Amino acid sequence: MTDLTGAHAVVTGGSSGIGRATAVLLVERGARVSLVARGHERLDETAAELGVAGGRVATAPADVADAGAVVAAMEALTAEMGPCDVLVASAGRSRPGHFEQLDDEVFHRLMAVNYFGTLNAIRAVVPSMIERGRGSIVGVSSAAGLIGVFGFAAYTPTKFAVRGLLETLRAELAPHGIHVGCAFPPDVDTPMLADENRFKPEETKAISAAIRPISAERVAASIVRGIEQRRFSIIPDWQTRLLARTAGLVPEAFAYSFDRTARRARAGR
Ligand SMILES: NC(=O)c1ccc[n+]([C@@H]2O[C@H](COP(=O)([O-])OP(=O)(O)OC[C@H]3O[C@@H](n4cnc5c(N)ncnc54)[C@H](OP(=O)(O)O)[C@@H]3O)[C@@H](O)[C@H]2O)c1
Repeated sequence: MTDLTGAHAVVTGGSSGIGRATAVLLVERGARVSLVARGHERLDETAAELGVAGGRVATAPADVADAGAVVAAMEALTAEMGPCDVLVASAGRSRPGHFEQLDDEVFHRLMAVNYFGTLNAIRAVVPSMIERGRGSIVGVSSAAGLIGVFGFAAYTPTKFAVRGLLETLRAELAPHGIHVGCAFPPDVDTPMLADENRFKPEETKAISAAIRPISAERVAASIVRGIEQRRFSIIPDWQTRLLARTAGLVPEAFAYSFDRTARRARAGR
């Protein structure tokens, strides 16, 4: 069991959605929290909110896709708050669309932010965690990191990549006393989902209509519990837990159901 009291937790993507809700809970647990994101305004707003809640908070603006910027941000935060005990790598973005209509740039940018952004943050904290023989790292994959779904050709591979990285690091870093976890949220009611909905093909909308978005607070609660209990798979809801257990066993059943829904959506267009 990890006690978060007094721990220095760094949250990338901490100025919105899942990252922000996780930062709020970490402060409630008595952690000192650092937030990393690009936009100054939302960083400052979140830091002020956390400060009012009694938290000790620092911010460092950086694009997580830029490894040098992430190292510089982590150095500044370490100088101010001490070494990082907990990293929650939540920064990410999405862009659904029909495969043939997505620009090359979208595929590259999503991999740069979602996968390399997670990797960059982890690489910036691991040496000091190994040196101190402790720490906790949680990355945010997705239900889209468990199964491929119509319309997510640019996003899904980035979330499979995050999961692959974290599964490997779980094994490699455990002997150093470092916990590694991977969160698999379903649709979550955040600005990212609202933006995503503007671009979803009809087929994707029909498939995701079966899923009621959950709150960022619920995902945050599962992430914080996952850190405290040093779990690898962090899944906030029973539907995604079921998906995680069965997707590999009966992939044809999911493909059949998704294909039928997509066909109906096309027929109704
Ligand atoms: N919402 C969902 O339905 C859902 C479902 C499953 C998984 N997820 C995953 O959960 C994570 C958080 O998503 P969310 O829904 O909380 O999104 P959100 O509300 O849009 O928040 C995204 C956060 O990431 C930051 N960010 C985005 N691009 C960045 C970059 N290049 N460098 C640094 N920070 C960046 C944003 O701040 P700036 O824009 O100011 O940089 C913001 O703080 C993502 O990895 C997402 O893929 C979300």
